[in-house]
Amino acid sequence: MQREFKRNFSIIAHIDHGKSTLADRIIEFTGAIQDREKKDQLLDRMDLERERGITIKAQAITLNYLAQDGNTYELNLIDTPGHVDFSYEVSRSLAACEGALLVVDASQGVEAQTLANVYLALDNDLELIPVLNKIDLPSAEPERIKQQIEDIIGLDTSDAVMASAKEGIGIGDILEAVVQRIPSPEGSEEAPLQALIFDSWFDPYQGVIIMVRIVNGSLRKGMRIRSFKGRKEHEVTHVGYFDPFQQDVDCLSAGSVGFVIAGIKDIQEVKVGDTITRCDHPAKQPLDGYKEVKPMVFSGLYPVDSAEYDDLRDALEKLVLNDASLSFELESSAALGFGFRCGFLGLLHMEIIQERLEREYNLNLITTAPTVTYAVHDIHGGCTMVDNPTQLPDPQLIDHIEEPYIVANIMCPNDYVGQVITLCQMKRGIQKAIQYIGSDRVMVTYELPLNEVVMDFYDALKSATRGYASLDYDFLEYRPGKLVKLDILLNGDTVDALSLIVHADSAYARGRDLAAKMREIIPRQMFEVAIQAAIGNKIIARETVKAMRKNVLAKCYGGDITRKKKLLEKQKEGKKRMKQVGAVEVPQEAFMAVLRVG
Ligand code: GTP
Repeated sequence: MQREFKRNFSIIAHIDHGKSTLADRIIEFTGAIQDREKKDQLLDRMDLERERGITIKAQAITLNYLAQDGNTYELNLIDTPGHVDFSYEVSRSLAACEGALLVVDASQGVEAQTLANVYLALDNDLELIPVLNKIDLPSAEPERIKQQIEDIIGLDTSDAVMASAKEGIGIGDILEAVVQRIPSPEGSEEAPLQALIFDSWFDPYQGVIIMVRIVNGSLRKGMRIRSFKGRKEHEVTHVGYFDPFQQDVDCLSAGSVGFVIAGIKDIQEVKVGDTITRCDHPAKQPLDGYKEVKPMVFSGLYPVDSAEYDDLRDALEKLVLNDASLSFELESSAALGFGFRCGFLGLLHMEIIQERLEREYNLNLITTAPTVTYAVHDIHGGCTMVDNPTQLPDPQLIDHIEEPYIVANIMCPNDYVGQVITLCQMKRGIQKAIQYIGSDRVMVTYELPLNEVVMDFYDALKSATRGYASLDYDFLEYRPGKLVKLDILLNGDTVDALSLIVHADSAYARGRDLAAKMREIIPRQMFEVAIQAAIGNKIIARETVKAMRKNVLAKCYGGDITRKKKLLEKQKEGKKRMKQVGAVEVPQEAFMAVLRVG
């Protein structure tokens, strides 16, 4: 198809404003999919995504649309995830587009991620089409929200599209707007091949599948290709697009979006953001990539049963093939044995990976509290990056520690500003701005230590504002902080997997709360368990779990055997998540308890 009949676009929105539902409607409208083939949320590939109702991986699908001008257009719809943890995936999808639908819930209005996504779109010079979704809701106030979009974003909404993805209203208008308002892609078919990699994943049958936007030249079956950062040459075995099913073609040309398969086994060969070119007439320059994402949050993953260590490694290796933003390396803990230190984009990413490991790979895991990476400067002038509290050097050797700060934008209704400010202050935040938007919304900007945000900030924010606040954040810089290591001792032994790096001012309170929490979590054992919290050599809190007095079966005397069996079963069930730490049995919850104190 000629370039002038191609349109590449994304849908950007705050989480839950209806992006996936709208994508489904667009697919249906263009007739790409029959009802019997229809799945609930087509673009959300993984079951887990469906269950959680969120989109994780970017994915592109190609649709043919017969427009009112009588021409058939090739529409490439590139899906983007909406959660704050995945904003880099949004930006990489946007780099493959010329325009985007900006979906705003007509009852909720502009939220923090609406704004964050708009900035990403503007960075990529995209044409934005405002779409007011959910106009079917009785609480929808499209006129007020249009005004809000003009005030906050500065986008002209006179030709915003009114839609209800749920009821299928306005879908035709949206597609006409795409065709008329989004520019066709530029680029030359004659120029040497430059294809931007915006997604890739490992398929067990076909090897690595690479999603590309062809910027210049064309990509054919049989061609020999390489990426600028990769070392090897590969022969293209398949090119094509998803509609949403895989469709092979002979050639993808400038302006198109589609997939390439070239017998690649190692996803590192074709990194997202890199450029593919042909080996015989290579392009001189790669396209502008995007900054490589670095994991921000780290935690240790250990098998409950040490015999499952190899299985855990195999599972992580497989997951990394599909998720280049996940990192892992071997780690050993005196308390937990062998496991892996894993790096994630954020807490949600961490939870998703844990769930996939447990559900898809049937593993029973112990997860240690998430931490950020600290820059530890020693007295000799050296600096080490530490993402595990146990690696913190002897305090005598530390000159100072720096921690990562973020800048957070929080949007909330006027009534909750007080609560938001209190929370941010409590989390060592530095206020930068408070901006009143329209009559009832406020944007609060704070600089916060990431350490405080990974703990439980998001949940605390939601509960302080009854779910009305939204959050978006970006990494800012490293800053010195008064940080100390807080240890937990069980019967006199430090449990390395329970150590934390915390701010000195809150260390005492945290230590006390944590010891108290441990007392609730650690079940009674055959002997007394002493729980202590310590900073350096100084014990700051002590709690005791008393020894068990009775045998659990004792109360079943005379009872029937099934009841007894049930009780034993129940005990066994409870044991699954217990880890033997020295002589003490510690439940999984204990390792995450830090998230719920302080
Ligand atoms: P993520 O995939 O998590 O980023 O969310 P999303 O923006 O894709 O939202 P999704 O399409 O999953 O929709 C969120 C919720 O809003 C779902 O319960 C939808 O059924 C509902 N919804 C979507 N569009 C409409 C609409 O036009 N009207 C009404 N009433 N509900 C809608």
